[in-house]
Amino acid sequence: VNKRNGIKGLVDAGIETVPELYILPVQERLEPNKILTTDYIPVIDVSNWDDPKVIESICQAAGKWGFFQIINHGVPLEVLDAVKEAAHRFFGLPNEERSKYWAGNSPTETVALKTSVVPQAESVLEWKDNLSFRCSPRDLESYPLWPPVCRDEVVKYLQSANPVIRKLLEVLLKGLKVEEINEAREYALTASPILNLNYYPHCPNPDLTVGVGPHSDISAITILLQDDIGGLYVRATDDDSWIHVPPVNGALVINIGDILQIMSNDRYRSIEHRVVANGSKDRVSVPIFANPGADAIFGPLPEVLESGEQPLYKEVVFSDYFKYFFSKRLEGKKAMEFARI
Ligand code: SIN
Ligand code: FE2
Repeated sequence: VNKRNGIKGLVDAGIETVPELYILPVQERLEPNKILTTDYIPVIDVSNWDDPKVIESICQAAGKWGFFQIINHGVPLEVLDAVKEAAHRFFGLPNEERSKYWAGNSPTETVALKTSVVPQAESVLEWKDNLSFRCSPRDLESYPLWPPVCRDEVVKYLQSANPVIRKLLEVLLKGLKVEEINEAREYALTASPILNLNYYPHCPNPDLTVGVGPHSDISAITILLQDDIGGLYVRATDDDSWIHVPPVNGALVINIGDILQIMSNDRYRSIEHRVVANGSKDRVSVPIFANPGADAIFGPLPEVLESGEQPLYKEVVFSDYFKYFFSKRLEGKKAMEFARI
């Protein structure tokens, strides 16, 4: 494993075929016959958040697809473009500059460069490097130690995206009859955000590899900025069929994570998704995961169970769920069993 320089290092070294460690078994590949082209993820115009039609579309999409895109969300295009460029700048640094930030070695615990997702548990490694930022207000105090080539853009994007995250949660909780997000709930939804700069270097054999394997997110919600290259697929049905999430300039891709599926007692769905790298272009994406505080306890909301509905999940401490999730290779929605009654 090229731990030192990641996938970017492999590509820079000029490899022409993918090393064995990155080759997926045939049945796990995303063959063209598994791709559904007759359906699509909704694109929702949120220029007026308080329009009942907007609220309805968001809550419906969260229940049906677990995924949707939003446009006219108020984050300026320049801010979106700048953070994507910053990702390219960071991964374009000479190996020895970039390597300073490897997890375990980084000048601060709030920034960690990684390759693959759970390399110690994976039998096939993923065609992806990423730089991960912990972003609670306290984490932001280590800003002076963050990589100068991208930190301003990361913070600016985070600040501009925060009101969008708040608004989305407000709308989604309204759909669960929660009228107000009090402090405890805010803590249980968003106290420990994580932002990743994901980098999928162009891959000599993209059909044989996996950018990110099928998984659902553990977050409450994830807001994802992708570039114009494409490659993100969402599970469409229980069988093995997948829909592409086409890049829409200026849009943000929103998905429900496990936490909100649990809190909503399955009204909203945390859907599996996967990424295929590109054969000729380096793809970047920038997710922000709205994650609960480490010691937050979450479970089905009282408002959802009001009419006597049986809870499908027990109450769980977020840090326990987090540890469980990252102790295994990504494997669809298996981690949710941890919370299931
Ligand atoms: C992920 O879901 O882990 C990444 C999504 C993407 O890069 O589009
Ligand atoms: Fe994800």
